[in-house]
Amino acid sequence: MPSTRSIEVVATAADLFRAAAEEFIRVGRAAIGAQGRFAVALSGGSTPRALYSLLAANYANFAWNRVFLFFGDERHVPPIDPESNYRMVNEALLTKIAIPAENVFRVPAENPDAAAAASDYEAELRGFFGLRSELRPGDRPAEFPRFDLILLGMGPDGHTASLFPDSPALDEQSRLVVANWVAKFNTDRITFTFPVLNRAAEVMFLVSGADKADMLRQVLEGKNTPPLPSQRVQPSDGKLLWLLDEAAAAKLTR
Ligand code: 6PG
Repeated sequence: MPSTRSIEVVATAADLFRAAAEEFIRVGRAAIGAQGRFAVALSGGSTPRALYSLLAANYANFAWNRVFLFFGDERHVPPIDPESNYRMVNEALLTKIAIPAENVFRVPAENPDAAAAASDYEAELRGFFGLRSELRPGDRPAEFPRFDLILLGMGPDGHTASLFPDSPALDEQSRLVVANWVAKFNTDRITFTFPVLNRAAEVMFLVSGADKADMLRQVLEGKNTPPLPSQRVQPSDGKLLWLLDEAAAAKLTR
């Protein structure tokens, strides 16, 4: 089934987080109803923090024991570091809901060896989704995990997760999780690869604020060579939802 792309624009950032929380819960309820569990990968950065706080405030009674939380990317820092996506999610959500610790799959980004952290996290994904272990040469094309929902943000340079323009991980087609050197930050990041993003049943981008308007127009309406990382998120058999507030959508022509 080809992916379906929909763009929803709401008036304010508060409306955006409300709509995102409703979609998160809708997808979660459907997944739990259909398969008894909801496997979701969270995005980091600053935008989604308000969504996570809203989920904690308005949906504390959700079936969090049926929810399995992963991280689409992580900074190469310990979980107590102010830069850590895990720390942000922990403060905004995990400490406020009854989710079993074993349902939260944190990237072991405290490991000084980013590639080892990525491999370990990939092994966690393979184990959770029941995928074969490491591929051997000549194997069938790699199997990829199918998340019920992957949350993503869009950076001002068009990156998503930690897939930055001109970074090595953009070309990765068989691994699930890799360490990705981000030259402009002079640091490694740990990130899902495009095959994982594009295997999801639903990907929801959350983009808020006027500072994203120019890049959002490029991503949603521009023809870029090579395509921007956020343009390469095209679920092969899933829904692609861009949830925007008016400030972010201000420069879109349609
Ligand atoms: C991260 C995120 C990253 C983020 C974008 C947008 O680790 O920073 O995963 O991809 O979604 O950079 O970030 P803001 O929401 O803070 O603008």
